Amino acid sequence: MEQRGKWGTNLGFLLAAIGSAVGLGNIWRFPYVAYENGGGAFLIPYFVALLTAGIPILMLEFALGHHKEASAPKAFRHIDAKWEWLGWWAVLFVMFGIELYYIVIIGWCANYMRFSLTMAWGDDPNSFFNEFLATGDPGDIWGVTGLQWSIVIAVALVWLINWGITYGGIQKGIERAVKVMMPILLLVTVAIVVWALFLEGAGKGVKHYVTPDFNKITDLKVWIAAYGQIFFSLSLGFGIMIAYSSYLSRDANIFKNSLIVGFANSSYEVFAGFGVFSILGYMATRQGKEIGDVVAESLGLAFVVYPEAISMLPYGRLFGVLFFFLLAVAGVSSSISIIEAFTAAVQDKFGFGRRKVVTAICLVGFAGSFLFTTNVGLFWLDIVDHFLNHYGLIVVGIVEALVVGWLYKTHRLKAHIVANLGLSGTRHKVFNYVVLQLWMYCIRFITPVALGIAIVHSLIGELATPYAGYPISGVIVLGVGWLLVTHVFAFGLSGLPWRGHPLD
Ligand code: ALA
Repeated sequence: MEQRGKWGTNLGFLLAAIGSAVGLGNIWRFPYVAYENGGGAFLIPYFVALLTAGIPILMLEFALGHHKEASAPKAFRHIDAKWEWLGWWAVLFVMFGIELYYIVIIGWCANYMRFSLTMAWGDDPNSFFNEFLATGDPGDIWGVTGLQWSIVIAVALVWLINWGITYGGIQKGIERAVKVMMPILLLVTVAIVVWALFLEGAGKGVKHYVTPDFNKITDLKVWIAAYGQIFFSLSLGFGIMIAYSSYLSRDANIFKNSLIVGFANSSYEVFAGFGVFSILGYMATRQGKEIGDVVAESLGLAFVVYPEAISMLPYGRLFGVLFFFLLAVAGVSSSISIIEAFTAAVQDKFGFGRRKVVTAICLVGFAGSFLFTTNVGLFWLDIVDHFLNHYGLIVVGIVEALVVGWLYKTHRLKAHIVANLGLSGTRHKVFNYVVLQLWMYCIRFITPVALGIAIVHSLIGELATPYAGYPISGVIVLGVGWLLVTHVFAFGLSGLPWRGHPLD
């Protein structure tokens, strides 16, 4: 049987984990969510969510994967065989749900890099985007007329890149790739943000981004948005962080790694927001409009508002290519981690060789991505994304916190974290009895309660009106159906005999 992979260095692991966290969600979703939910004031619920759920769950996932040297299903099986399904469910709906459309969005970015060269969207980026996707009528969600070949080709290329990287394994594939991708990501981000900050009107945009609207802080929705953003952004509930930390050396410092990854990801998105809002400020100034009139919801921001801005900018073509390249690189460093989480699970359970597993997953994934490349792809994507993020990831987070916090008893993981801190005397006591004690309270009480409130609130809204006004059949089949079918598969897989890496 193939040996489990190992990171060459702790830095390699950090780059891979930050690469997984920093993705499409950071660059266009965060600034919009922040703006919608009180601008600068949003940073308060956002950092509370980071400290009470983000870093605690990240530390839980790192500690669990590292302690058990296991992928998500195996790690949960160690706690109790009846929880193996939870690990399978996470990696299944993420791999055969989120990943399928995530890669399609990277494919759009690849196309938009090409479009930037000629500013193909002319003076109407909105109509252009709809033509590019051949978007149909949202009321006719089952009216599939055909595939968009320019997207299919780009998607094939993105899958090929993902396959190429994950095929190489942990050190020779993923670690090597992130060592190239992450410095590029950082450099291009800094270049774009600095460029944007010097544009005329940038100050106006930045002011909107950071001006706190404290009235919003009392709104429950703002808090829910903060927890949701933290979860998706840190790749929590994906099974990724469990698998990634299982490849760490035995003496790795889990506590330090969690803080580094958690804060790096948040710093990145807060920083990227300055660039996005500077551009919005520039556009508003040029068009004599208010920021509120130029900002758009997540996808519209990247594929409609940005092209509009690119057309106005000096050296706009170069800016456009860089921006969509940035999105694509951030996307790939996350999409490879999703493939790895599933690969690790299959290898652990069935003992198959990596190359076979990765090739099979990428082929099936490529075929699955077709679902989001038709004229109704955008609507399907929207529904699947909404349900998997709002219910899938959050349910995994709640159950994970409860299972580890109450059944497994968090103190066993705590002991594992403390053992690798290498502290003694007073510092050891402070960590053991204060810092990590607080972590246990978060896992046992605060995280499940906060996520529980979020999910109940979302459900109440869901029952009142079908999501985004789509036909109810679409919401049930694509949204609820996706969650249920992956659940059935998760139970099926966990019922199969264990043939791979030994359980103990
Ligand atoms: N964490 C990844 C993102 O933010 C999935 O896009």
